[in-house]
Amino acid sequence: MFDEEVLELGRVSGAHGEVVLRRRGGVTELIVDGVFAMDDVDTTTERALATETLARCTGEGLRVLVGGLGLGWTAATALADPRVADVEVAELQPALAGWAADGLLPGLPGGLPDRLRVCTADVADVVAGSPGTWDAVLLDVDNGPAFLVHQANAGLYEPAGLATTLAALRPGGVLAVWSSDPMPELADRLAALPGTTDVEHQLLPVERDGRRFDYAIVTARAAGQPSRGGS
Ligand SMILES: C[S@@+](CC[C@H](N)C(=O)[O-])C[C@H]1O[C@@H](n2cnc3c(N)ncnc32)[C@H](O)[C@@H]1O
Repeated sequence: MFDEEVLELGRVSGAHGEVVLRRRGGVTELIVDGVFAMDDVDTTTERALATETLARCTGEGLRVLVGGLGLGWTAATALADPRVADVEVAELQPALAGWAADGLLPGLPGGLPDRLRVCTADVADVVAGSPGTWDAVLLDVDNGPAFLVHQANAGLYEPAGLATTLAALRPGGVLAVWSSDPMPELADRLAALPGTTDVEHQLLPVERDGRRFDYAIVTARAAGQPSRGGS
């Protein structure tokens, strides 16, 4: 046995704890406030968060809000859809925007593209301050509603928090939440909210270290017809 070499790419402490970006044996890892947030061993589900949600959106010139930059995969995948006009990312840790600009995030190796804006903010504040704005809101700020990175995020998954996020969507817009565990209770909670349609709970199998895990994405549509050009 030998120890894998760990290369620290960045470490910054701030109001929301410490964030560490490191590379271990060719794998990039992100640790937020002492909690493992993600690595890039298998990013299919972070990318599926964007593709599955946008597959449910119609029209052109789509405006997308991503909660949590992480290693950049969800944001980059949303940007790759030519129907997307711009992507705004709300990220709590200011260091991540700098590391993204420096090309240190594996999802955004070329740095920050023109149509991508990263703002240092709590995504809960961004949705509360932008009613009726987004065609899609993609939330991946925790390891899931049952495994929070920040305890303060719990309110995002409560009925009131979900209702605020749904209200930030344009009519017919889609909210999606990523989770490292199946989350049928979240789907039920969304389905019980007035004005929500098309709630889906999708399991996404992932294999890590020879073991199978079922990650999940829950999507829900805000009531109403999109006002932009048809699909
Ligand atoms: C698991 S990572 C996101 C991974 C991302 N989907 C990707 O493809 O790389 C979670 C990110 O959410 C950020 N975060 C956690 N709580 C947040 C909040 N309330 N608002 C905005 N960002 C938050 C963390 O700092 C971290 O960068």
